[in-house]
Amino acid sequence: MKEKIEAIQAEALARIAAADDARSLEDARVGILGKKGTLTEVSAGMRDVPKEQKAEIGQLLNTARTAITEALEEKQLALQAIADAKALEGIDSTLPARAVHHGSLHPLTLIRHQAIEVLRRMGFALAEGPEIEDEFHCFDALNTPADHPARNEKDTFYFDSGKLLRTHTSSVQIRTMETQAPPVRIIAPGSAYRRDEIDATHLSVFNQLEGLYVDTDVSLGDLKGTLEYFFREMFGAETEVRFRPHFFPFTEPSFEIDVKLHAKGQVPKWIEVAGCGMVDPAVFESIDSGRKDDAFSPEKITGFAFGMGLDRLAMIRWGIKDIRLLIENDVRFLRQFA
Ligand code: DAH
Repeated sequence: MKEKIEAIQAEALARIAAADDARSLEDARVGILGKKGTLTEVSAGMRDVPKEQKAEIGQLLNTARTAITEALEEKQLALQAIADAKALEGIDSTLPARAVHHGSLHPLTLIRHQAIEVLRRMGFALAEGPEIEDEFHCFDALNTPADHPARNEKDTFYFDSGKLLRTHTSSVQIRTMETQAPPVRIIAPGSAYRRDEIDATHLSVFNQLEGLYVDTDVSLGDLKGTLEYFFREMFGAETEVRFRPHFFPFTEPSFEIDVKLHAKGQVPKWIEVAGCGMVDPAVFESIDSGRKDDAFSPEKITGFAFGMGLDRLAMIRWGIKDIRLLIENDVRFLRQFA
């Protein structure tokens, strides 16, 4: 029995040593320790061992089992190490890692955040209104008569219901004054829609930022100071801004604001970025007649309003020469803002 155990142990260890992959090692394990394995079978012979030899033989069997189990484990680790090394072969771990692509905010989002940040510092609060608007809030309440060109079906996107995609965010001025009393100081960023011919400075959907300030004694000086400060905060102290007299039905006097665009590879040129003016008393009167009070009586209050094109602001901010780049989602363009 003793010699048999020793022989089995020796043979088992040799077999384990000879195994050269996971498969042959597993075969060896089953052949030795499995149900019909060599060590299992010889262990079964314990039954017939005379009592006085049992301790010694038992000891021997245990030693053999421990030695074999340890050899199996060691061999398994050694084979794994070889497999790992093979898998890593040909991989140069000193090469620089592949760059991870981070997403980033769209330039229009960046410019909107920046504009809101500057205006909030001056005390303007955010307001909003629907993009599908009725003619009353888009036109009538803004002193824009039925024969005004902005109301032309060919210039505007109408629904069968008579509603339309708002042509400007100025409708939010009306919605705000319907529910709040002076002082009112709001800004409303959002989409506006027009059947414009699409070119380097026009899109049929664009982004506006509306502003309204109503209080006692609001003057044209406040309007000019506020907007000049705004543009300098946005584009730097050197920014060239000009106010051109213009006409809007809902303001009197009215202006258009131009800012110098320094686009790459182009001669600097003025581009129109906003309309603004002192709120026309007719607008206040219309609000009061809807509210049935005199909260906005032109006798007591004045106000200024402005609406600027965020797309145009982005063009100036980054020297973008074609507005269409902002909606084409060309990653070569967008990546520059990452
Ligand atoms: N709503 C005008 C437009 O879309 C822009 C504008 C002009 C807004 C004068 C104003 C304003 O609030 O006072 O062209």
